[in-house]
Formats: sequence, structure tokens, C-alpha cells
Amino acid sequence: MERLRSFCRKSGLVCALGTVLIGSGVGVAVAQGVWQATKVPTRTQVSTQLPRAPFPVERCINVAGALEAPNEGDWGYKIRERDFKTIRAAGFDTIRVPIKFSAHAMEQAPYTLDPTFIARIDEVVRWALRNDLTIILNLCHYTELFENPDVHERRLVALWAQIAARYQNTPAKVMFEIINEPQEAFSGPRVNQVQAEVLTVIRKTNPTRTVIFAGDNWGNIGGIDNLELPDDPYVVGTVHYYQPFEFTHSGASWMDDPPPAGRMWPRPGETRELQRDLAQIAAFRERIKAPVLLGEYGVGVEVPMRLRADWTRAMTSAFKEIKMPACYFNFTGGFDTYDRSVEQWHAPLLEALQLRPK
Ligand code: GLC
Repeated sequence: MERLRSFCRKSGLVCALGTVLIGSGVGVAVAQGVWQATKVPTRTQVSTQLPRAPFPVERCINVAGALEAPNEGDWGYKIRERDFKTIRAAGFDTIRVPIKFSAHAMEQAPYTLDPTFIARIDEVVRWALRNDLTIILNLCHYTELFENPDVHERRLVALWAQIAARYQNTPAKVMFEIINEPQEAFSGPRVNQVQAEVLTVIRKTNPTRTVIFAGDNWGNIGGIDNLELPDDPYVVGTVHYYQPFEFTHSGASWMDDPPPAGRMWPRPGETRELQRDLAQIAAFRERIKAPVLLGEYGVGVEVPMRLRADWTRAMTSAFKEIKMPACYFNFTGGFDTYDRSVEQWHAPLLEALQLRPK
């Protein structure tokens, strides 16, 4: 069910929401394993005086479809260490791993994470570091939070308290991304407030860890104007880019009502629209005075390879031009760049990404 998408998602449109957007200013945070009511810190724009920590991500690829599923393997893919070797050898320096942590923790306080599951995440982190990859741990597909944030926000904070404590002694190459694609009822000011609360909890154990923040509207360009970052030199903003959605998701077999197959790209005017979007993303980076990660961009496997490569080439060079690190979507398991049936990269896509297999 959770893979079924509505047409407004990622379309860049600000989708109408019947959500109550007024935050109370009071939230909850974990303190030594105990829930306490705390004031949400006042959010300001990141001040220009703050030293800005480096964000050494350049060539990134998503490793989604494995830990993103309710159980790893449900969607036909389990991460193997050889995948990380292959990714490193092609020239990527970073992987972004979407993980459905919410499916592996107690429903009630203290929301303890399943020890077997978190041990598996340890292994994936170890593999990344052993293969000289920066790894972004992204909390993904928390559908209950999107449907009922009043109940689930405190659980999100508690999940991050545990994840942060677990990885506090890992190198800076392990980064945290609080929530993938905020959407539905989890929209508006509460998205900023809750991510700031999560950061406060993370900072108790990880004073300088890079933490990535997303805007609402499925994390796409329609949400960037709403994103505010706390005053902290180690925070980064993120945005996803799948425009035109009717092209990148055309005929997508996993959607209940996909845009029609056979869509061409670019249609007249679409290159100009891309330029306009890039200018908007660059302005967003200026406003938040922090690095911005283009966290996902890609084209579904239902689109002919030549067109996938054309779009990927155009986007990759456009992001490079504005010096924006970008994470291609996806290694395998949907939106494939790598074909596991023959254990080979799709050469046109790797070329479009300006990389070469070794
Ligand atoms: C988001 C979703 C993922 C989907 C991708 C492309 O990352 O979480 O399930 O495959 O976008 O639409």
C-alpha cells in the first residue's frame, strides 16, 4: 500500500492539505530514557557568523528498496557488501540508505528498537565505512507519522535518541537524515519543530554529527520555502527532484495510477523550467546559508534507457554546475542503475552520471 502514490506527490505542486498547522510550541524530548515536556527551541535562520562545517559529499547514490521495505528482502533486494565495493569502484563517495526504522520498534514507550534489526544496520554501516563510503542513514516510510503526527512525533524523537546513541562513536562519515519526504498530515510548521526537537536529542550524544533536514510536500521543490534550519553549523537541507513527474514516473508499475507510459522528454519549454527550478534551489541554499543535498533524482525503469540517460545527464551536469551534491535514485531494486541479474551497471546511466565502472 505504501508504495501507491497519488499524482500530486513529487509533482512540484503544493498539494492541498486539511492539516491543522498551528504548533503549540511545547513538545517532548527524551532525557536519559525518560519522557519530559520541554520547550521547543526557538528556530532562527542559521546565522552568517557561524562557522559552517564542511559537507564532503559529491557523488552519491541511493541504496533504497532493501531496508526501505517493511522487512529487508520484501521488495526483492537485500544489501550485500559487494554492492558497496561496486559503488565505490564506480567512483561514488557516498550512499544514502532509506530505512524503515518505524517497522522495527515497540509501538508504545519506550519505543525500543528491535536488537536484531539495529544489529543489521550496524553491519551495513560497517560495510560502508570499510569500503570508504560516507553513509547517510535516512528514516523512511514512517506512514503512521504522516497519518497521525500527534501520536507519532514523540516516537520519531525516541527512535532518533536510540539511533544517535548507537552511532555516537562512529566517524563523521556516518550522517543522519531525520525524515524522508514529509507529507500528508505531517506538514507545515510542525515539520520544522519536530526536526529541531530531534536535533536537540541527537546533539546530546553527537555534538558535531551532520544532520540533514527536509521540507514538507514530499521533500520536493514545493516544500523548500517552508524549511527552516536550527542555528547549528552541522545541519544540511535537502530536496528531491523528479521533474517532470509525468516523465520520471511514467508507466511506473508500482503506482496504482501512474502517469501514462510513453512520455517524451524534454517537451518544449521543459529545459527552461529546469533552469527556473535550479535557480529556485540555489536561492533556497542562499536563504538557509547551509549546504543543500539533492537527496534523490532519477527515472523509473519503465522509461526507455535512452531517455533515462538523457534526463540523468542533463540533471547531473546541471547540479554540478551549481556545485550541488546529488544522490542518484537508485542503485537497484527499482529505478535501477545496476542490473543485479548480470551484475553490471547500466552503462548509459553510469556515463550520464559522468562515472566509469572499474
Ligand atoms: C521515495 C520513496 C520511494 C520511491 C522513490 C521514487 O524515495 O520513498 O519508495 O521509490 O521516492 O518515487
